[in-house]
Amino acid sequence: MITLRNIHKSYSAGGNQLHVLKGIDLEIKAGEFVSVMGSSGSGKSTLLNVIGILDDYDEGEYLLDKKSIKNLNETQAAILRNTFIGFVFQSFNLISFKNAMENVALPLYAKIGKS
Ligand SMILES: Nc1ncnc2c1ncn2[C@@H]1O[C@H](COP(=O)(O)OP(=O)(O)OP(=O)(O)O)[C@@H](O)[C@H]1O
Ligand SMILES: [Mg+2]
Repeated sequence: MITLRNIHKSYSAGGNQLHVLKGIDLEIKAGEFVSVMGSSGSGKSTLLNVIGILDDYDEGEYLLDKKSIKNLNETQAAILRNTFIGFVFQSFNLISFKNAMENVALPLYAKIGKS
């Protein structure tokens, strides 16, 4: 379902390159439940932003449902996000008039509506 091979990502910060993802290999099969753990600043959000097609990566290969995710335009990325990905952000983008459970469940409504 999700395959990452040798994924690298750096940020440019104040003229310096910050190499955050240094060759990530990851395989997640349909139905698997996976947690990513690591200290603050270790790159968890960076990794999830790549997996969620919210941000690009510099090097390596990302296959989602066996299709390569690289250099997509905004429309292509939006279609894939809408089809495959439900993203609960770390500290913002929650919907204020929904409770915590409804916020987490929200992406499911879109997917159930389509099937
Ligand atoms: N947009 C950005 N520009 C420059 N540096 C960034 C950017 N986003 C994250 N970083 C840096 O990249 C590193 C990894 O950050 P990231 O947010 O992925 O860590 P994290 O594991 O999610 O941390 P936390 O547990 O605090 O949420 C940190 O050093 C952070 O300061
Ligand atoms: Mg984070």
